[in-house]
Amino acid sequence: MDTKILQDDEIPLAAELLQKGEIVGIPTETVYGLGCDARNPEAVMKVFSAKGRPADNPLIVHIQDFSQWGELVEEIPPLAERLAKRFWPGPLTIILRRSKLIPSVTAGGLDSVGVRLPAHPVAQAVIQAADMPIAAPSGNRSGRPSPTTAADMLSDMAGRIPAIIDGGPCLCGIESTVIALDDENTVRILRPGFITPEKLAEIAPKVIIDNGVLGKVSEHTAVRSPGMKYRHYAPNARVTLVTGSLDGFLSIIASSNEANVRALVFDDDAQACVAKEVPFSTYGSTDRECASQLFTKLRELDREGVSHIFVRAPRADGVGLAVYNRLIRAAGYEILDADAGKIFQKRD
Ligand code: TXA
Ligand code: MG
Repeated sequence: MDTKILQDDEIPLAAELLQKGEIVGIPTETVYGLGCDARNPEAVMKVFSAKGRPADNPLIVHIQDFSQWGELVEEIPPLAERLAKRFWPGPLTIILRRSKLIPSVTAGGLDSVGVRLPAHPVAQAVIQAADMPIAAPSGNRSGRPSPTTAADMLSDMAGRIPAIIDGGPCLCGIESTVIALDDENTVRILRPGFITPEKLAEIAPKVIIDNGVLGKVSEHTAVRSPGMKYRHYAPNARVTLVTGSLDGFLSIIASSNEANVRALVFDDDAQACVAKEVPFSTYGSTDRECASQLFTKLRELDREGVSHIFVRAPRADGVGLAVYNRLIRAAGYEILDADAGKIFQKRD
């Protein structure tokens, strides 16, 4: 199959493919998604197979208008409605009990469904033109970093899907915040993102960060969100996440005798890397910049043939919590404290 790159004036063609039960790559403000008709089990099965995704890992369903939400879920509790009114369109996925319109395959066999109303104009236009709720996981092959450009998505999906709409680079660069509601006052964050715990707390009386966000989860652990237990966001290169001081970080790399090592650091760390003759790339200076560049950089370093990436860890709060969460998984939980000089959480 030849994978076509469509321009945004070719949305009617994309809509036609979706109506025929085909899969289309769709840009959103977070990352590119692998979209299909959420109500059509055969189409959804094609997504699982193009992505190589385990069948127990549910897909997020994308809508274009609030009025589409009600028929996808059993009930919309007042807290969910308040959150949606504040944060939609935008990078927030809200999990509720699913209605019969959502087939079990879309939900990975769970009785719930995560729904979001994306802010990207192309995503909105496609959902409207296709006139359906669109199920879309991130457009990477399972386990790889999510694609933030049409070219990155093509490198994972060429020959596997008929088309990808090129909507330019994604603004956020990491996936949406995924939440569930524990009760009428409590939000549980299952995957952190641009909608931070602090922002959610402006609406929800209580916000809990699930243990799986920062803790180590194995394939055999019972989790609230199946995506937590799989190795994820990982380039081909080995990734080590390094916390602590810049000096300690640079000494670790300077003393490594591996070939093709690369430091992935903040913009402000560049001069120190030059001074210590440590080969480096940068991924921004603010948490938001790091979020938007992380996956692009990991893919870029793979193309350059780097075999081991040491990443300077961001602070695990605000949007930094989301970056940290992706990095611990990309690193397979290999986290090094630069100052203690020992690995305190090791890959299985
Ligand atoms: O920003 C995003 O959310 C992107 C764009 C395309 O919208 N989509 C995305 O989908 O990241 P995906 O499938 O790669 O990640 C969805 C995550 C998975 O970890 C999955 O386990 C979790 O959300 N999830 C989805 N539905 C769920 C549900 N009903 N219950 C628990 N976890 C759910
Ligand atoms: Mg994903």
